[in-house]
Amino acid sequence: MYCVQPVTSDILYVGASDRRLSLFENVYPIPRGVSYNAYLVLDEKTVLLDTADHAVSDRFLENVEHGLNGRMLDYVVVNHMEPDHCATLMDVLRRWPEAQIVASAKAIAMIGQFFEGDVSARATVVKEGDTLATGRHTFAFVMAPMVHWPEVMVTYDTTEKILFSADAFGTFGALNGNIFADQVRFERDWLDDARRYYTNIVGKYGPQVQALLKKAAGLDIQTICPLHGPIWRRDLGWFLEKYQTWSTYAPEEQAVAIFTGCVYGHTDNAAEIVANRLAEKGVSNIALYDVAHTHVSDLVGEAFRCSHLVFAASTYNAGIFTPMETLLLDLKAHNLQNRTIGLIENGSWAAMSGKQMREILESMKNITVLEGTVSLKSSVKEPQRQALEALADAIAAELA
Ligand code: FEO
Repeated sequence: MYCVQPVTSDILYVGASDRRLSLFENVYPIPRGVSYNAYLVLDEKTVLLDTADHAVSDRFLENVEHGLNGRMLDYVVVNHMEPDHCATLMDVLRRWPEAQIVASAKAIAMIGQFFEGDVSARATVVKEGDTLATGRHTFAFVMAPMVHWPEVMVTYDTTEKILFSADAFGTFGALNGNIFADQVRFERDWLDDARRYYTNIVGKYGPQVQALLKKAAGLDIQTICPLHGPIWRRDLGWFLEKYQTWSTYAPEEQAVAIFTGCVYGHTDNAAEIVANRLAEKGVSNIALYDVAHTHVSDLVGEAFRCSHLVFAASTYNAGIFTPMETLLLDLKAHNLQNRTIGLIENGSWAAMSGKQMREILESMKNITVLEGTVSLKSSVKEPQRQALEALADAIAAELA
């Protein structure tokens, strides 16, 4: 049965949420689910902005059918061709054979890659600044390549000043009836997932997000309708500021996150000594994670949040304890920059993890690795305890 909500007097939310999927993109745990948003504009012409994932196809198609109430669908705007938003595109085209696709040239090419058949006769290719008038509304198309794929565009409703922002400003988390961010306690309940979504999905593409933010700054935006998570119609500046921070790789907070990866617990002991000393020196909100037990996507989000990071790892197969190596390579892949780093290594006969962690980190931009990796031989002894406290003191001094 359909389940729609009004966004404005003639725009309906016709998306749906999935609370059963365990891994988004088969990679990211989503214990709070995810929503696949789509919007139906009921103007003189009807416009569907994006489709939805296969997982919610029945609900999504029922929603569109209900919203149209017997009218034909004139246009389907494809802002992003990733299958979480376009898997049901062919279902829409079959069900509403008059509908014209409106998309970037790259998106039209991708339709041919993902699906059988030639849609060119049903496609209107749009480029930067092109517009589509549908009666009361006029939509302007703004190219947003690499936010998150190359074919991405966003659509600005010049009439109601709504930005249909594709993946930008999205978040993990199913919608629980409240489709607007001002109806939920976003900072308390959603921000961590929004950061994890941003950093893991588009974190690599900071310059491209910056380009989109600059274009958005030239528009009078009253509402942001993303393809995942709640719609923004209040406090847009607060969320835009988060995007400004994340996309410039600036730390969101002057804070410490300690990541420990260890086989028998002795390296964890070193991490705890650093944390305790930081607290003793007045540092608050210290985060400490066992990298083997917290998903790497959460750790990436935390590394984007905090200004100071400590990595403590056992040596494993003459290299870095595997989950820690995964984390460091993921941070490099997501272009993390502008952080101060402390390193702790452990090795019972040949400690190698410190040198190799340093090599990965020093190949990244604007990363300051503090001198003097603290080196353990199996466990913490008094000289190492003092070295760990010295490391904590150096970090605390920067945060003071
Ligand atoms: Fe939500 Fe890049 O797809």
